[in-house]
Amino acid sequence: MTENKAPEGLGRRTNYNGDLRSTDIGKQVRLFGWVNTRRDHGGVIFVDLRDHTGLAQVVFKPEVDSRAHAEADALRNEWVIAVTGRVEAREGGNINPKLPTGEIEVLVDRLDILNPSLPSLFDLDEKEVDERLRLTHRYLDLRRPAMQSNLRLRAKAATIVREHLSTQEFIEVETPVLTRSTPEGARDYLVPSRMSPGKFYALPQSPQLFKQILMVGGLDRYYQIVKCFRDEDLRGNRQPEFTQVDIEMSFAEPEFIFELIDGLMQKLWKDILGVDVALPIGRMSYQEAMEDYGSDAPDLRFDLKLVQLSDLVKDSDFKVFAQAVEKGGQVKGIRVPGGATMSRKELDELTEFVAIYGARGMAWVKMQPDGWQSPIAKFFTPEQHRAIEERMGLQQGDLAVFCADSLKVVTDSLGNLRKEIARRTGLLNDKEYRFVWVTDFPLLEYNEEEKRFAAMHHPFTSPVPEDLEAYGESDPAKIRARAYDIVLNGVELGGGSIRIHRTDMQQRVFNLLDLDEKESRDKFGFLLDALAHGAPPHGGIALGFDRIIMLLIGTESIRDVIAFPKTQKAADLMVEAPADVDEKQLRELGIRLAKR
Ligand code: AMO
Ligand code: AMP
Repeated sequence: MTENKAPEGLGRRTNYNGDLRSTDIGKQVRLFGWVNTRRDHGGVIFVDLRDHTGLAQVVFKPEVDSRAHAEADALRNEWVIAVTGRVEAREGGNINPKLPTGEIEVLVDRLDILNPSLPSLFDLDEKEVDERLRLTHRYLDLRRPAMQSNLRLRAKAATIVREHLSTQEFIEVETPVLTRSTPEGARDYLVPSRMSPGKFYALPQSPQLFKQILMVGGLDRYYQIVKCFRDEDLRGNRQPEFTQVDIEMSFAEPEFIFELIDGLMQKLWKDILGVDVALPIGRMSYQEAMEDYGSDAPDLRFDLKLVQLSDLVKDSDFKVFAQAVEKGGQVKGIRVPGGATMSRKELDELTEFVAIYGARGMAWVKMQPDGWQSPIAKFFTPEQHRAIEERMGLQQGDLAVFCADSLKVVTDSLGNLRKEIARRTGLLNDKEYRFVWVTDFPLLEYNEEEKRFAAMHHPFTSPVPEDLEAYGESDPAKIRARAYDIVLNGVELGGGSIRIHRTDMQQRVFNLLDLDEKESRDKFGFLLDALAHGAPPHGGIALGFDRIIMLLIGTESIRDVIAFPKTQKAADLMVEAPADVDEKQLRELGIRLAKR
């Protein structure tokens, strides 16, 4: 037992496993890692030793060290070991060109078993592992190369963000997590107070008001990579807690924010993907985005624009179209180049698809050599055929699809249909990055259920002053906001605005939102007070950091870019949150649960 003493401490790592190369041949190394695989070839034991950099083959031969060789017999996958040994060249036939370390192996003269492991619950090299299993045993899932590289990319992106902002005089300030409701339009997560029974904190949906108050406090330029909490229904790229790159700037114009973010996007895409983003990133008004693309987050990688046809078809014999226009709705169409080859079945599927968005049908025309092939061809005169063809730019072999309904249904249906057609016809190139700024959002949005206006962005967004003067209280729907979103490939990456910095203007906007003076004082008295004490003009933006990482990686799942994400039901499967709490804890909080 004396010839191979237990180590004094762990000893120092000389190399990461994946970094070893033929230039290291002859070197004595100490390596750490997990047993990826173990093979026994007629008395010689081979182990692929894994760490986050990759694999190195380590070899146990009885003639090199009999004790290490004997112990290696027990090794199983995922055991944690340290080895000491010498880097050797692999013999000709044993070179593995698929591994970066494939030209060498390490002849082990000492093995330390640091921790055995239960058998892995899934194969770490397997691509399609059940996600519940991955999330329940995230410590195993995190060992997979894909998760390793995702989280490392995320960390690199955070470093680039910090560097970009701090070199432009932005300082990172932390804002409270236990706070009160911030109106970003979602439901709050509430935290009961023990000190003040019956009262609750809210977790911030964003640091919006704090960052504005930092500007009033003279901080000038703020940023924070910050967790935000929103209790909302979770779709593909939403999480109940997510991360924003939150930014605010005093004496700001939208132009300054655009420049700052343009530069940041350019740097992220260059340093991480090697992709050049041409600056400045283009601009498009909200109105144009809605009219041409049927979405305020247009995907510009493909054309398939919405074409207005109401004026051409309003007097036609096709009642569905004529009546839609008569009732104040619209008729719009999309040209699908070369789409005439689509089968009846595919057209039926697209019709079912638009029904999700409320469309009662989807008329279509195939441009054949002998004219229109279409269930609705007969309702239109040859002149009307020609006018529609001309407006839409229809060519032989094209398909045109149409929707007639209220503006909202037409916009939603065709806006989503153009993306669906792009998906089906292979127009989505995931190596193409089309950024765009969407500007001039409406200030308000009418809520049909509550019969009142709500802020489209949030209630602190500045109206365009000329619009406020022109339409004011008489036609508030027409007022534009000084708000903007940055969009990439149809995904809203971030949004912001120039804020209201004067109390009178803030009160006027609160009034438009049906918040009278008393109510607004109750909710936002501290903000009104702050604005009254020398608030500088200011504005900013928040970028969805998780979404940026998703797009950089090219993943559809936000859970792939977060170390410990939650499920669609907002549960953490590993720690089993949310969970029951002790009766005693509830009593201290003065809370009694209703019978479930
Ligand atoms: P907004 O609500 O538009 O603005 O949020 C900014 C960005 O945050 C991301 N985001 C989300 N990401 C993942 N999961 C979610 N549940 C989620 N919700 C939002 C989006 C979005 O564009 N305070 C304002 C910003 C400002 O005015 O400066 C705000 O929070 O990418
Ligand atoms: P119908 O006369 O109802 O059989 O409809 C003829 C064609 O018009 C079918 O292809 C329907 O899908 C389509 N259609 C029906 N309603 C609408 C609508 N609101 N907008 C567009 N197309 C419609």
